[in-house]
Amino acid sequence: MTAQPDVRGDVAVLVPAAGLGTRLGPGTPKALRSLAGAPLLVHVLRRLSAAPSVGHVVVAAPPDGEDAVRALLVDETPPFPLEVVSGGASRQESVAAALAAVPSGFPIVLVHDAARAFAPAELLERVAAAVREGHDAVIPVLPVVDTIKRVDAAGHVVTTVERSELRAVQTPQGFRRNVLAAAHAQLTEPGGATDDAALVERLGIKVFCVPGAEAALKITRPADLMIAEALRLDQA
Ligand code: CTP
Ligand code: MG
Repeated sequence: MTAQPDVRGDVAVLVPAAGLGTRLGPGTPKALRSLAGAPLLVHVLRRLSAAPSVGHVVVAAPPDGEDAVRALLVDETPPFPLEVVSGGASRQESVAAALAAVPSGFPIVLVHDAARAFAPAELLERVAAAVREGHDAVIPVLPVVDTIKRVDAAGHVVTTVERSELRAVQTPQGFRRNVLAAAHAQLTEPGGATDDAALVERLGIKVFCVPGAEAALKITRPADLMIAEALRLDQA
């Protein structure tokens, strides 16, 4: 019998956490806001700690928030080295800053929004496994429940998009490290890209979909905090 290759720790995870959480309303930056007794970023770190593939984590902290983030995470003692860098004015800049801090020896890089604080460790492992199996870029997706229409500037419907072809995209997104680095080095979008896979698509590289998870919902508006709390996602 051939031994299984030891895949523990071959994944570096970038956690863009530098956003202000404007849509959540006034307060501290979103990643530092508490839900069920712990800041969102701490919930993220606990889930990453439960994923055996994770060997290194880089958090992009809010402006002037590096020390606050380090202080928050100091008691968590994760089973991997954890670095905190200063995030940028856009999500893309934050991801690029975190990527630049990843040491050599990590062929797989996952990008995971702090705002998706309750994405389970199994989801991270599913994405990492698909990259390991040979996909250059992997995204977790869910079916879309609403009918989606393309609308012009005057407010008229241009077309109704066939729903069975649509997917809602989550994080963590997984990449061969050199693919993500090339995408970030070569491309941008006005205001910075909010989806790393979109940059990779523009390089002409195929992006593979795996099933997402309802628990990986993005905390964006105040109601999302209530949903996460009502579903007890912190305990899931
Ligand atoms: N993010 C980041 N750096 C930025 C902007 C966003 O690292 N300059 C991160 C956020 O911290 C979040 C993720 O990107 O984890 C997704 O962004 P979003 O949900 O839009 O969070 P915010 O930008 O904080 O929220 P808002 O747009 O409501 O201000
Ligand atoms: Mg934002």
